[in-house]
Amino acid sequence: MPRSLSGRSFLKLLDFTTEEIQYLLELSKDFKRMKRAGTPHKYLAGKNIVLLFEKTSTRTRCSFEVAGNDLGMGVTYLDPGSSQMGKKESLEDTAKVLGRMFDGIEYRGFDQQIVENLAKHAGVPVWNGLTTDFHPTQMLADVLTIEEHFGHYKGLTMVFMGDARNNVANSLMVVSAKLGINFVACGPKDNMPDKKLVDTCKKIAKENGCTITLTEDVKKGTKNADVIYTDIWVSMGEPDEIWEQRIKLLSPYQVNDAVMKNANPGAIFLHCLPSFHDLETTIGVDIHKKFGLPEMEVTDKVFRSPQSKVFDEAENRMHTIKAVMYATLK
Ligand code: CP
Ligand code: NVA
Repeated sequence: MPRSLSGRSFLKLLDFTTEEIQYLLELSKDFKRMKRAGTPHKYLAGKNIVLLFEKTSTRTRCSFEVAGNDLGMGVTYLDPGSSQMGKKESLEDTAKVLGRMFDGIEYRGFDQQIVENLAKHAGVPVWNGLTTDFHPTQMLADVLTIEEHFGHYKGLTMVFMGDARNNVANSLMVVSAKLGINFVACGPKDNMPDKKLVDTCKKIAKENGCTITLTEDVKKGTKNADVIYTDIWVSMGEPDEIWEQRIKLLSPYQVNDAVMKNANPGAIFLHCLPSFHDLETTIGVDIHKKFGLPEMEVTDKVFRSPQSKVFDEAENRMHTIKAVMYATLK
């Protein structure tokens, strides 16, 4: 058992030990069992949290709201543009004000430094609901999903395909290194994670008996994979003009039948979502009109296949976020 996480912020996985991450996963399983059994767990009744979103969200926002309600807390949501933060009030002042009223603060937005500064000044736990650099709550749900499927995660191989320097890829590399999962970043050389982060993760991985590999080669990269993971090719906050370049660069890294066949038999497919796998979104239709692509980072066939565990993964966002809030606020 790790020392208590009470009072800690959850900003990036690099701040947490292997044992602390494992503890959060165990707690997530307990909360999932309670939710399934209909056992009430309003352990944080009387507390209040605020959710600050500077980017849009479905899963993260709903997970914090439902988990907060299940734990008996009051939940306030501030959508992009509806608070004074940044425009009329500094980050430091905002953090100090919110810290006087709330027991915990969730932030989704841009630079990692913003969420780090919020935590520095708020005086209450701050949780990172996605920044340009990291998306740490997502990884807990991903590993929980992997463990539910395989019965374990240590020693497995996870391959991230595509824009391997985005927030999701960075966080997957960190969590893999911490938990003894072999991690492969498979993408073009200009879309690889930052060298400093790779070096840090390689050191952690060595201590935990696993490897970090970067490769541009899809065949080599996806061989022996137990988990194939991808994310959208253009992340929130990036300009629309970048789509053309990304499509050219990342199309060879699409997750399709050939990729899944090259992986280990029994490999699963994960995606943090949202995903462009069909023409049922306005952006999907727009890209189809401009560039002729009916699907992007993953084919509709793989997305809907039995190997795809993306909706288990999405549900697990709620159980794992509940564990993070409980552990840091109890
Ligand atoms: N995976 C994820 O963070 O989804 P949302 O953007 O909908 O929160
Ligand atoms: N990389 C994506 C993740 C969305 C959950 C983004 O930042 O938009």
